[in-house]
Parts: sequence; C-alpha cells; structure tokens
Amino acid sequence: MILANIKEIRAQFPILQRATPTGKPLIYLDSAATSLKPQCVINAVTDVLTNRTANIHRSVHFLGDEATELYENTRDITAAFIGAEPNEIVFLRNTTEALNLVAKAFAGKGRIISSIGEHHSNYLPWQSHDIHRLGLDVNGDIDWLELEQELSKGDVALVSLTHASNVTGFMLDLKKLVNMSHAAGAKVMIDGAQSLPHIKIDVTEINCDFLAFSGHKLGAPSGVGVLFGKAELLEEMGYWLHGGSTVESVTEHSVEAKSAPWKFEAGTPAIESVVGLQAALSFLLEIGMDNIESHFQSLSKFTNVCLNENLPMVNVIGGQNKQQGPFSLTIPGVSPHIIARGLSDRYGICLRSGFHCAQPLHSFYNVPASIRLSFWLYNTENEIEQAIKGIANLINLVR
Ligand code: ALA
Repeated sequence: MILANIKEIRAQFPILQRATPTGKPLIYLDSAATSLKPQCVINAVTDVLTNRTANIHRSVHFLGDEATELYENTRDITAAFIGAEPNEIVFLRNTTEALNLVAKAFAGKGRIISSIGEHHSNYLPWQSHDIHRLGLDVNGDIDWLELEQELSKGDVALVSLTHASNVTGFMLDLKKLVNMSHAAGAKVMIDGAQSLPHIKIDVTEINCDFLAFSGHKLGAPSGVGVLFGKAELLEEMGYWLHGGSTVESVTEHSVEAKSAPWKFEAGTPAIESVVGLQAALSFLLEIGMDNIESHFQSLSKFTNVCLNENLPMVNVIGGQNKQQGPFSLTIPGVSPHIIARGLSDRYGICLRSGFHCAQPLHSFYNVPASIRLSFWLYNTENEIEQAIKGIANLINLVR
C-alpha cells in the first residue's frame, strides 16, 4: 500500500520544493545512491552546530556532556532499531568502511565466500583474501548449490553477502544463509546498505554475526555508517585506526585498548552526522517500517506495470516483473548516460546511470551499464510514471 500520509511525508523534505534548471518540480529517483533528508534531520544537525558544539568523550564541561549524551543515545537508538545491544554498534564513516574493517580482521583467518553480485564495497575489500565468489541466477539470487559445495570444502571463516542488490534489488533469504553457513562453522556478514531503508531487520532474529549499513541512505547526513557485530566477535577483533579515544592508557611501549565498540572509533567522529542519524531513525520509526516496506512493494509493482506498458523493449537486470526495486534498465543501442542527462535537463528527473559501483555484476549479465530507477518513502507512482514516459520520449529522440 502507498503511504496514506504521503503528502505530509513529502512536505517534510524541503529539497522537493526547490526549483530545477527546467523549472519543473524535482523528481528524485536516485535513493539507492543516497536519500533525501527530512527537516527533522536538518534541525537536529543545525541544533548541534548552533547550540552544542563540543568534542565527545573528552571535555568535562556541560557542552561536552550534552554532545556525548546525544552521541551515545544514538548508539542506543540504533541498537534498538536492529534488535542489537548498544555495545554491538560501531559508528564508522559508511558501509564501505564497516566492510573494510571486517575484511581486515578476517585476513589470514580462513576462506571467504562472497558473490559476483556485490557492489564494489563488498567486492574490493576481499581481493587479497582466499575468496570464492558465487555466481547468480537470472533473478540475481545466489547459486545456493554452489554455496553448499563451497561450505562443504571446509575452512570457511566468513560468508559476506549483500542482502539487497543495488542493481537487481533481489533480496537474499538471510535465515537460510545464516543457518547453512553456521552449520559449516562460518560467520556471516550482511551488507544491508540497500535493504535497511526499506524493511525491518532484526539481527537477533536473523542471527547474523555482522551487519553493515550507511546513515545517508536512511535520511541521515553522510559521514556515518554502522557496523553491528556480535559483542564477543567485536571484542576479539583487533582495532582499526589507532588514535585518540581508542585507548584506556598509553606508555612509550604499551597500549591498553578500550573495549568494543569504542576501540574502533578513533579520533573525533562525525558527531553532527551521528546525531542526524538519531533523528532519521526516529523519523522512520514514527512512519513505521512496516508501512515503509509496504510502500516500497507497491511502488515496485507499479513500476513493473508501467515499464511493461511504456517500455516493452527494455531489458530489466534481474528479470522482467521482478519483486523489488531498484530497476536497472538496459536499452539496446542507447547509452544510459544520454538518457540520464536528458531526464535531468529536460524534465528535472534525477536518477543514476553507469554500473552503479557494481561492474562485475554488470559484466556477469553481459551489459556494460544501465539506467537505474530507485525510490524511497517520498516517491509517488506519478513520479515513476513521468520518469518512464520521459525515458520513452528520449529513446524516440535519440534513435
Ligand atoms: N552503492 C551506491 C549506489 O548504488 C552508492 O549508488
């Protein structure tokens, strides 16, 4: 179901009121790259900058107290958002940094299984490991038989896979993945960058060992990402950047590290962005993740119908009539960049073209690049229809 209060929700995103170079209203369909920010997030960040500027975990004055409390409250709220404990939440810059941290910790620890369908953030950190990359089927699901065979060879330390592809939108069966991997003694890392904005994830229920996601795709500012790790695993992991805030004590020849998660958060963090994340998560909880998921499913269904009616000649990566967005399209003989530029310049429509930081996945499906429609809780069916009709018009113009 489309969100009943979609008008009120849209009114909370001031950027939707801005003028575009075309004079037409902004249509933003690039939320898989980053989401727009609601007013409550802008207010929270402004409040920190205006009234509460101080460093955290250091200064014994009231401004330091207030900033530290806001920062640590965000950890509590983030933990509750995914069913974790606060000491299992590490604030880093983004999903990429979280994945790199885990990759570094698992270097030399055994074999790694991932897939050919990962975006570069969950592809490149494993390049120097003993890595096996699973193939995909036409819908974007992993080859489960291949996974079973690889797990049965033994010595798999970690299986690291994306929950929802940023190209096909395919959502992996996490419980099945975790059960199979744990039965073989392997830990599981989930890249949740593309799924967390759309559906509720409970790490306790799923029983994954690690989960990474970014604030900026959830309505928060850029500069804050989250790594969830089971407490005992984070405690075992060596720490990452060395510097202020990571240690209990230092002498010329010794270091006593803080416990997790603080040992991973070196230097002054992105305090404003973390506070913005708190506002963003509260905003999502107020709307309700179930309602957000239902809106996402409705827009996905609508997109399928609209594509079939207006663009029957395009190929949808991950299959026609697939379950979930984003929708990555290839149009025989037409450059995706020309279409994206044309949509922006003629209609004020923003979406992404290229290989979306997932070049191996595009190569696997034998396409160099695609044009991607990705939506979130502020988008309407009408906007998707305008974009699809805009693409159809541009194809006629350039052919
Ligand atoms: N991985 C992000 C995207 O898909 C940046 O656009």
